[in-house]
Amino acid sequence: MSAPQTYRVKSFGCQMNVYDGERMGELLAETGFAPAAEGADADLVVLNTCHIRERAVDKVYSDIGRLRRENGSVPLIAVAGCIAQAEGEEIMARAPSVKMVVGPQAYHRLPAMIARASAGERVTDTDMPADAKFAALPARRRSGPAAFLTVQEGCDKFCTYCVVPYTRGAEISRPHADLLAEAQRLVEAGAREITLLGQNVNAWAGEDAKGRKVGLDGLITALAALPDLARIRYTTSHPTDMSDGLIAAHGEVGKLMPFLHLPVQSGSDRVLRAMNRSHTVESYLRLLDRVRAVRPDIALSGDFITGFPGESEAEFAETLTLIDAAGYAQAYSFKYSARPGTPAAGMAGQIAAEVMDERLQRLQAAINRGQLAFNQASIGRHCAVLVERRGKLPGQWLGKSPWLQSVHFFGDAALGDIVMVELMSAGANSLGGRIIPT
Ligand code: SAH
Ligand code: SF4
Ligand code: F3S
Repeated sequence: MSAPQTYRVKSFGCQMNVYDGERMGELLAETGFAPAAEGADADLVVLNTCHIRERAVDKVYSDIGRLRRENGSVPLIAVAGCIAQAEGEEIMARAPSVKMVVGPQAYHRLPAMIARASAGERVTDTDMPADAKFAALPARRRSGPAAFLTVQEGCDKFCTYCVVPYTRGAEISRPHADLLAEAQRLVEAGAREITLLGQNVNAWAGEDAKGRKVGLDGLITALAALPDLARIRYTTSHPTDMSDGLIAAHGEVGKLMPFLHLPVQSGSDRVLRAMNRSHTVESYLRLLDRVRAVRPDIALSGDFITGFPGESEAEFAETLTLIDAAGYAQAYSFKYSARPGTPAAGMAGQIAAEVMDERLQRLQAAINRGQLAFNQASIGRHCAVLVERRGKLPGQWLGKSPWLQSVHFFGDAALGDIVMVELMSAGANSLGGRIIPT
């Protein structure tokens, strides 16, 4: 086989996979590959996978099958990401067309793997931990107006349903100085907003330039000093790692946007204990009170699981009660998926699929009602919107409000501008408006 020329990276799953996918693309470009044109076949395809739920896994196997071209040939295929970490050997056995399996902490070694795979070998690298990865990646050169920056990786929480501690490994924090340098490069490349990423981003800890121990709030304060950076966000945070300092930052750091993604998973204390969540419904609600005391307009987001083993109808109803009490601007909800090797997969009381479905629908209806009400309450407001993309219609732009609402609007703007928009219409998923001329 001749050496590949063009590449495509396809990322599934969470925002950290999007970040990793971008970094793999940069690395491949540095190594001499060109991104394949939209719609064209690529010589090298990296499937950057997610293992969180069973359905995500099934999708990747069907994607591998679909990479076969009409003439029967296949590109050089690498499976990266969390499935690679969890099921590398299985992939190699089940899918002969896959030539490389590379885990989320090993992808900086892709160029050497590609060289071996191009020579006919099948190569697996699922080494951990991540320390070496970031240092080995090329410096950032490109960015859209809104960029991701991984600051923390891995998870030590071991919620009983979740694969992430196994696929991403133990919690590590990237050094403060490296993060400031990467953020500076992103800003120079055009980023106006940076979202700090971590599986438990608020567990980030490090030392600032003066050698003082700081948490995520210290990092946010340091980043806020970058003059051309306008907005900072962070995700995903765990309720037990919301420090006093981070809560205070929501009231003190103007560039920190009024949005908090704080997954709770269930509104039943018994279920939360079975999930090993280490917070209660009451402690979660008290936390929200404290955040709202310093930032009353904060937009709250969450994650929910329906049909965790043993969840009764009454316990599910407690989740609906919590949704009303907490007041979500948006939220994600999932049917429980039994994951191989996790404690919950072996628990008694696995819930029938129809019951999970029915509960998910009621949950999503409650979330959608809240989301629509939150968006409708914005109608008539004048709101600062970061222009992120062109819309589908001529002259239309898409961007985000400080509360992470999608806003589409018409008017005179350029990518990366922060414009004032009068919000005129609202649906459950987006708002419409027009630029207020200055
Ligand atoms: N570290 C983050 C996100 C982890 S994965 C956190 O703790 O919030 C994102 C979401 O996927 C989780 O919050 C959870 O709601 C969902 N999830 C994780 N494992 C799952 C499983 N086995 N079945 C269904 N949903 C799951
Ligand atoms: Fe998974 Fe829980 Fe860790 Fe989040 S905190 S990644 S849900 S184990
Ligand atoms: Fe999926 Fe791995 Fe992210 S399992 S959600 S890609 S950390």
